[in-house]
Amino acid sequence: MTDINEIGATAFVIAAIRAGEPEKPQPLFNDPYAQWFSNDRARAVARQLDEAFPPSTSMVRFRTRYFNRFVERGIAAGARQVVLLGGGFDMRAHVFADTGARFFEVDQKAVVEFKRVTLARNGMEQPSSLSANYLDADVPNGLADLGLDLTAPTLMVWEGNTMYLPPESIMPFLNRLAGAMTSFRIAFDYFAADLQRREFENEEDRRRLEDVERAMGAEFPTGFADLKVFEEQAPYRVAEEGSFDNLAEEFGLGPMVASYPEDWRETLKLYRYCVLERR
Ligand SMILES: C[S@@+](CC[C@H](N)C(=O)[O-])C[C@H]1O[C@@H](n2cnc3c(N)ncnc32)[C@H](O)[C@@H]1O
Repeated sequence: MTDINEIGATAFVIAAIRAGEPEKPQPLFNDPYAQWFSNDRARAVARQLDEAFPPSTSMVRFRTRYFNRFVERGIAAGARQVVLLGGGFDMRAHVFADTGARFFEVDQKAVVEFKRVTLARNGMEQPSSLSANYLDADVPNGLADLGLDLTAPTLMVWEGNTMYLPPESIMPFLNRLAGAMTSFRIAFDYFAADLQRREFENEEDRRRLEDVERAMGAEFPTGFADLKVFEEQAPYRVAEEGSFDNLAEEFGLGPMVASYPEDWRETLKLYRYCVLERR
């Protein structure tokens, strides 16, 4: 299992990918702050990802746009609190500053402190943050101490996290959240394969996923072949699900994805999003 400190390093890679968005022919989002968290090493890893499996960085772009939409829609529907769980260098608190929603962040101390110092250097403030391993900490009460109302509608963004976590930690964690918070939706990305047992329908999928792991320098021990586990082992309802490549038309990049070889598109079916709603 990859150490949590090394998982923290992946946040720089995601920032490096986001920092490249303005140069894309058709940008999918605006994150002018991502460049503050990018560096040569992270850019080199992003290039390795592109070599390992060319659509991988495009799917990070798709997911950023998707989670932006989750936040926008949730706020439009009345949520006034957003929690960025394993938020890394997510700057949505500032990107969505004029919505009036209050943002909270959770990540390990080294990541939160790096972000806090970087923002301060640029005259900006880090949102209320819980510095902790969220698998060990009492997240709801830690956030309540920072001002989160545990009974008010809340959006939780759990982006780029599930695949790195120990498989046995997921359901206890989600059950703890559901036990303490009454009204929330949690959105996450995941691999739709039994990664615990490394079960793949074809060997190409396995090779690509393992190439991406190597490039990231982190293992993906957890995937979900079937989302029913969240309804059977925790008090959730699957409110939304799909694969990122299927958002291509909607995001104006249909021709790009349509030009991918058939076998790439097959592998991309494994990378999906899900929104769970507490029942
Ligand atoms: C791949 S990065 C994604 C960051 C951000 N959500 C994004 O998409 O840009 C994963 C982040 O989750 C954090 N993380 C993973 N597991 C964690 C845990 N158990 N407790 C706290 N933070 C965790 C890491 O420190 C890292 O910042």
